[in-house]
Amino acid sequence: MRVLGLESSCDETGAAIVDHEGRVLADVVHSQVSVHAPYGGVIPELASRDHLRNVGPVVREALARAKLGWEAIDGIAVTNRPGLVGALLVGVQAAKGLAWARGLPLVGVDHLVGHLLAVFLRRSDDAQAPPEFPFVALLASGGHTAIYRVDGPRADRIRELGATRDDAAGEAFDKVAKLLGLGYPGGPVIDRFAARGDAKAVAFTLPMGRGRAGSASFEMSFSGIKTQVAARVRERGVPGSEQEMADLCASFQAAVTSVLAKKLVAAAVSEGVRTVVLGGGVAANRELRERATALAAQHGIRAFIPELASCTDNAAMIAYAGLVRLRDGERDDWGLVASSATSLPRTTRKGGGAR
Ligand code: KG4
Ligand code: ZN
Repeated sequence: MRVLGLESSCDETGAAIVDHEGRVLADVVHSQVSVHAPYGGVIPELASRDHLRNVGPVVREALARAKLGWEAIDGIAVTNRPGLVGALLVGVQAAKGLAWARGLPLVGVDHLVGHLLAVFLRRSDDAQAPPEFPFVALLASGGHTAIYRVDGPRADRIRELGATRDDAAGEAFDKVAKLLGLGYPGGPVIDRFAARGDAKAVAFTLPMGRGRAGSASFEMSFSGIKTQVAARVRERGVPGSEQEMADLCASFQAAVTSVLAKKLVAAAVSEGVRTVVLGGGVAANRELRERATALAAQHGIRAFIPELASCTDNAAMIAYAGLVRLRDGERDDWGLVASSATSLPRTTRKGGGAR
């Protein structure tokens, strides 16, 4: 079985073809980074217009790279939530048009489920074997940061154990990079600076960093560290030397990644699960990958981490999550709509307090 996936929830237009073993036959991503970079963040209206320009070309390119014709495609999967609604609509309408024209079944995919299943993608013959269910997963991206117990590949088998109460981890990277004048997106550039810095140079404190007993223990908060960086920049200005910049980035990154790794492993221990998984753009972070692997090993837990191309937004993870639904005989109809909200039940309330 081969599925064509489409992704347009934020600032990447993607089309990919994936088979039932998770093999990625083609994965085309058109990034809009240069469109949004001058503004330091994604401008929804510009995102929609750019998706409209590129959605046709990325589909054509995916088929060409896979060297496949339409007769080789068994279904179409498209991200229909969560995300910028105007951006999602472009992918959803394109998917409906293609499904109708080719007489193919269509399914909508929750982008977060896509990130949680990205670890099953196989981009080469020697790709690591995929994890087995159940696992505990950390999804950390620009819009979402949460820890889930995943008992199966479908949305109804995924349960949130805790999430950020305010900013997403990737959002913290992006906002701190903006404060430091490092451009957008912030994650990759902070990651590069941090590699050359001293993480002990600046002492950052993260609220809920240590974890508390009870229901709040897997909840997180990342807005405070951004405020600490802002206060520092107000007092002393942006670091003047490369080394000072590297030290500040290293200290910030160590604080964020150590909390993420600690909460993920603590959640797995508490659930009695021996496997942890990373997903989302922040899972591309070198230090998070290392910390999660090392801390998990200390507790006899195996960490499975997607390849870099599977962490940041891509349509291959959407194709795979859609394939799981199609394989179970599920179909969506022409009434498929776009939504800004995830279909996964949320337990953590933004802004704090019991839900
Ligand atoms: O999953 P993704 O591509 O899009 C969303 O669904 O949000 O994640 C994008 C986020 C951005 O905030 C970006 O700064 C962050 O992932 N990111 C990283 C790294 N690469 C991307 N954060 C930390 N370290 C990285 N190497
Ligand atoms: Zn994403």
